[in-house]
Amino acid sequence: MVDSIRVENVTKTFTRRYQRTLKQITVAKARGQKTMDEFNAVDDVSFTVQQGESIGLMGLNGSGKSTLLKMINGVMRPDSGSILTRGNIAGLIATGAGFHPQLSGRDNLVLNAAILGMSEKETMRKFDAIVDFAGLEDKLDGQVGHYSSGESARLGFSIAIHVDSDIFLADEVLAVGDKPFRAKCLQRMEEIRDSGRTLFYVSHSAGSVKRMCTRVLILEQGKLVFDGKPWKGIKYLGYDDGDLKENPIDLEEEIGADI
Ligand SMILES: Nc1ncnc2c1ncn2[C@@H]1O[C@H](COP(=O)(O)OP(=O)(O)OP(=O)(O)O)[C@@H](O)[C@H]1O
Ligand SMILES: [Mg+2]
Repeated sequence: MVDSIRVENVTKTFTRRYQRTLKQITVAKARGQKTMDEFNAVDDVSFTVQQGESIGLMGLNGSGKSTLLKMINGVMRPDSGSILTRGNIAGLIATGAGFHPQLSGRDNLVLNAAILGMSEKETMRKFDAIVDFAGLEDKLDGQVGHYSSGESARLGFSIAIHVDSDIFLADEVLAVGDKPFRAKCLQRMEEIRDSGRTLFYVSHSAGSVKRMCTRVLILEQGKLVFDGKPWKGIKYLGYDDGDLKENPIDLEEEIGADI
């Protein structure tokens, strides 16, 4: 077994500000009130992921999932602790992240692919497949700033899945895509999982996590409170069978969608 991601005692602290303007801050200080404090968005988190595992990262809004993913991806550094990753990392960590709003979809595609480590030759070879998966042929020369959030997510996800990577991170992928596109994304992520790559998938959808992941991690106010089997994690979160069936992005329902 080869370690793919090793997270050791990772903490990320952010500052919470209570006032915005200088006047408000001055008044608050004069009254002896707090103007800011610090909190740990990710709090002493440790875990190891083996190559080929598919991890579902779950937890309530604001529990630190995206922050943790950004640190694994390397766009943010932990304040303490360490993160080691093996191989190339690709994925979508935020809708529209890394896109330049004034450039066209075409230019952003080329730029983003280069940032993710694709050579010019490889990008040209995969160009049509990327555009085809995103379904944005008619929008390709329009500026990305005018894309809807779903369209930006389509382009970002499509580029990311065409990068040869050892680790694939996915956050907010399914949040803005329409139903047929979500189904396509889930299917592609299943293929990524089955190809032996490490999959790290942030989701609020119990159905898709149960179907896709072999292990679930749950964050609660930045702390890792669960690490184990998906069904146990889903139970921990308090989802029951009704939630699984009614969940709007349940995978079985998605795959059955007309795509
Ligand atoms: N740059 C920042 N500065 C200050 N606070 C931040 C910053 N980024 C995130 N936070 C705060 O850190 C906490 C964790 O945010 P994070 O985006 O990691 O949550 P999340 O688990 O991904 O939530 P969601 O399910 O809504 O996507 C939140 O309270 C958020 O407001
Ligand atoms: Mg998030």
